[in-house]
Amino acid sequence: MSTNTGSTRTGTDWQAWQESWDRQQEVYMPDREERFRVMLDMVEALVGPAPRVLDLACGTGSITARLLARFPKATSTGIDLDPALLAIARGTFEGDDRVTFVEADLKTADWPTRLPHQSYDAVLTATALHWLHSDPLATLYGQVAGLVRHGGVFMNADHMIDDSTPRINAAEREQRHAVMERAQQGGALDWAEWWQVAANDPVLAEPTAKRFEIYGEHADGDMPSAAWHARVLREKGFAEARPVWSSPADTLLLALK
Ligand SMILES: C[S@@+](CC[C@H](N)C(=O)[O-])C[C@H]1O[C@@H](n2cnc3c(N)ncnc32)[C@H](O)[C@@H]1O
Repeated sequence: MSTNTGSTRTGTDWQAWQESWDRQQEVYMPDREERFRVMLDMVEALVGPAPRVLDLACGTGSITARLLARFPKATSTGIDLDPALLAIARGTFEGDDRVTFVEADLKTADWPTRLPHQSYDAVLTATALHWLHSDPLATLYGQVAGLVRHGGVFMNADHMIDDSTPRINAAEREQRHAVMERAQQGGALDWAEWWQVAANDPVLAEPTAKRFEIYGEHADGDMPSAAWHARVLREKGFAEARPVWSSPADTLLLALK
């Protein structure tokens, strides 16, 4: 583990947990910051520099942290089901009245009613909705459409697979796995190792045990194509939808209400 991560008698270094989460996620997405930057560029372009944001499946609040660093007048609601990642998020933003967190399952019908607001300028999400199968994801997109104001945006940065290009996909996957292996050889923690560190932390042990009861190692979902996401978002009430950034593996899909 990173030597400065963890809880001591004097408290928990939440920033160290944020940084160790970021390093772990970058094992899988070396260009993770790039997609966050483009996401916030498009927030500014479409809804301005003081948006009310819903950070959907927020985890530790990665999007919220970057949002507030760039747009201090923004506000954010983070929603997630993972009690350990939410503990890190709450610890990080404690005392910041621009930020609220809600613990809820995005597969339920009532999560929108548990939010502090009925309408948002932007709903933003990253590396999360592939935890859902396509049918519940389409339902979720309907719920999201109901929360985005007219003229507001939804953005999803995630792994999206185009099944019509199997040889490109196989080559991309092989290359991505080679990069991941090199990162791990360089000492970066992978997903399982990071959770092992959290499980051994005196403050995070209990919420980590709970998150394994909820999810197991990882939820099982689908990774439909960017075209699928754009089509379903239009069917659910968005006026326009298309990729605004992509890497060989991932897409940032923007939908405008
Ligand atoms: C890989 S993390 C990404 C977190 C954050 N968006 C980021 O980029 O660092 C995926 C997140 O999706 C959340 N998630 C998955 N399924 C969910 C569901 N059904 N309800 C709420 N959150 C969910 C997980 O709890 C986890 O925090």
